[in-house]
Amino acid sequence: MANPTTPRSPEETELLERARKRLPGGVLGTSRYADDVGFVVKHGRGSKIYDVSGREYIDYVLASGPLILGHAHPAVVGAVRRQIEAGSTYFMVNEPIIELAEEICRAMPCAEQVRFTSTGSEATFFSLRVARTYRKRDKILKFEGGYHGAHDYGMMSSSPRSPKAFPAPVPDSSGIPHAIEDEVLIAPYNDLATVEGIVATHADELAAVIIEPFQRLIPPQPGFLSGLREITRRHGVLLIFDEVVTGFRLAYGGAQQYYGVTPDIACVGKIVGGGFPLAAVCASADLMQPFDPGQDGKGDFISQSGTLNGNPIAAAAGLATLAELRKPGAYETIHGTGKRLMAGLTDLAQRSGLPAQVVGEPVVFDLIFTGEPVTDYRSLQKADGALGRAFTTELIKRGVVKNTQKMYISLVHSEQDVATTLQACEDALKMLPKTKKR
Ligand SMILES: Cc1ncc(COP(=O)(O)O)c(C=O)c1O
Repeated sequence: MANPTTPRSPEETELLERARKRLPGGVLGTSRYADDVGFVVKHGRGSKIYDVSGREYIDYVLASGPLILGHAHPAVVGAVRRQIEAGSTYFMVNEPIIELAEEICRAMPCAEQVRFTSTGSEATFFSLRVARTYRKRDKILKFEGGYHGAHDYGMMSSSPRSPKAFPAPVPDSSGIPHAIEDEVLIAPYNDLATVEGIVATHADELAAVIIEPFQRLIPPQPGFLSGLREITRRHGVLLIFDEVVTGFRLAYGGAQQYYGVTPDIACVGKIVGGGFPLAAVCASADLMQPFDPGQDGKGDFISQSGTLNGNPIAAAAGLATLAELRKPGAYETIHGTGKRLMAGLTDLAQRSGLPAQVVGEPVVFDLIFTGEPVTDYRSLQKADGALGRAFTTELIKRGVVKNTQKMYISLVHSEQDVATTLQACEDALKMLPKTKKR
């Protein structure tokens, strides 16, 4: 197997040129690696991906999170193969999707019923509709730096370059109607006093507070989530946990189990579809009732439909993934691998002489280039972004691929992967310019 120091092949260079011509920016979304390390994926297996030039990378992107079992896990491949022989989609209730709904309700403390969507963005979008329907109010409160997908309500102060005074939002994208800005309030993560003030002032207009309980890679401080639960309950505002990242990852029952706080509504995605497009809104039967078409014309009715909702291939892949995660020791293994990598990285950071620290939980974390505590978006913004991007680039050159500010850990990352990754990190850190920025 060629290692990443092997030059890019002419075939791969040509593919990258074709991508640039037909895909805006040559990419599929908002992230792009530096030109000199860009590559085209050929295939993935276990904890590794391989590019068209035959180069191997240890993969901590994991398809942006769904592949907690790694690439092409035999249990997932087998389940998908069996299902596809029986048809790829029906737009009708089917056995795998019923089973998956039951499994989500067994796992998630807040879930009695489930409405499936194809993406996490749709799940959070429709969770807001559930909250507005129940509360008969329109506004939502979200946290600065929190990401809930690419829809207009989610794209408010998710990554503002120039944040405004709370609770004013800053749109993250062109093309969002200005009217949406009046519907979204912004609060600082991990700052209960400020949240309390905003909720108290606006309680009468608020449908819900939506939060990533573990925000991007920032853990909640002790008491923050339980305090938020108490404030929202006291003011009668619904609490939505966006568990698209954390669901079935921090623990089988997601952040609600891991941090011991139960929201009114949760959104799950990524892992639950086993690498196929599937996500869901889940809540009590009471809150979910307006999704029932029998409600149409009677009372509150939430119109929600999607061509691929309840897709049986995604359900089969999700069920196979969850079955592996229920096996004894699965979470201990994932957390153990993550802890070893976090500890090794922390040690390297301290020895590097750079202002850098590991931020996150053992299942999702990264090295962040600041010496100051990272507790919210604004403290994360003080980190040296250029160093972070340079670190990511240097790692790709050494056969380790990750997102900037995010490493996902899988069940199949091995001890050897951890050792190789730490060596690559040590070498990458040596390539970074020493900086005084904190
Ligand atoms: C916390 C969170 N919510 C929602 C989404 C949106 O999910 P999707 O990309 O499936 O639309 C993401 C995607 O990364 C996410 O991280």
